[in-house]
Amino acid sequence: MKKRILVTGGTGFIGSHTSVELIESGYDVVIVDNLSNSNIEVLNGIEEITHVRPAFEQVDCTDMPALELVFQKYQPIDGIIHFAASKAVGESVKEPLKYYRNNTVSTINLLELMPKYGVKAFIFSSSCTVYGQPDSDNLPVRETSPRKDAESPYGNTKKIDEDIVTDFCNSGAPIQAILLRYFNPIGAHPTAIIGELPNGVPANLIPYLTQTAIGIRECLSVFGDDYDTPDGSCIRDYIYVVDLAKAHVAAVERILEGKSSEKVDIFNIGTGNGVSVLELIHTFERCTGVKLNYKIAGRRAGDIEKVWGNVDKANQVLGWKATHTLEDALSSAWKWQLKLREDGIM
Ligand code: UFG
Repeated sequence: MKKRILVTGGTGFIGSHTSVELIESGYDVVIVDNLSNSNIEVLNGIEEITHVRPAFEQVDCTDMPALELVFQKYQPIDGIIHFAASKAVGESVKEPLKYYRNNTVSTINLLELMPKYGVKAFIFSSSCTVYGQPDSDNLPVRETSPRKDAESPYGNTKKIDEDIVTDFCNSGAPIQAILLRYFNPIGAHPTAIIGELPNGVPANLIPYLTQTAIGIRECLSVFGDDYDTPDGSCIRDYIYVVDLAKAHVAAVERILEGKSSEKVDIFNIGTGNGVSVLELIHTFERCTGVKLNYKIAGRRAGDIEKVWGNVDKANQVLGWKATHTLEDALSSAWKWQLKLREDGIM
């Protein structure tokens, strides 16, 4: 019988790509999403790519009675991948309670239901945001590097959730967990059938960049060129979303196939390469042939100067490695933007 994975936030950007990879790896996928920041039509996209329509329940994971009905309906569930969360850094500063409620209550509810319904594996979407700005001698940052005070309520919820999961697993609960600390996910599925669809004006670099390239936005602002980096712009570790999605399949397998003796394991999921904003813009121009209108603007409050990951542990222990280049990821993001235009979506 196929193993069944509950994917919360499965119609979102990373969740939808992960659902595709799970189905293609032979898992039965049940998506739970409240559709607060995604669209039901993503299910059609997942079906078009995989020829399988995942089960779907429009449920908010903070709603315990509704969530428990999902656990009852889909018994037995083998594992959970928990993406569902609010994720806008700026909004979290303005509406902190929304973030603390959504992001911690949903995690607690899932963990509480797991032993009752015999669910063994929990994969949690964490973020390199938990490292803050690592000291220079801690770059590339390792899983054992210190976690710093969060820059935003959003970042703090990731730290708190990591602690909730860890404390619960260590309390003797009959579950194993893997915390995946993502660096910056970018790109879209190579078919351009699913991708990132932010609401309103994008806050993140790639959707802003592709929307500028296609003429929806006039000009991309590069937030700062006076940082202590080779070209003065900030450095990040940009990871192709399909590679990131595959890391979740590897993590689920690690627990379900009994490859791990750890109650909680942590992996950085990135490429191991730091790329500056200006380098990324030039790579985009080179691989798409599109000239980008950009200007240097002031620094953005709260930005980390530079962070990229040491991914040796994911490579060696998880047996996962990013295989796509920055060019692949940027080309896919551009193809997705062109498809949105073709379909009249934006
Ligand atoms: N940037 C620009 N112009 C823009 C948008 C972004 O120059 O219009 C720059 C930023 O200053 C930063 C880089 O592009 O240097 C990446 O910015 P993003 O907003 O795309 O991503 P962040 O690194 O700020 O944040 C992302 C996620 C968070 C997560 C964090 C972890 O959005 O959810 O990574 O470090 F917590």
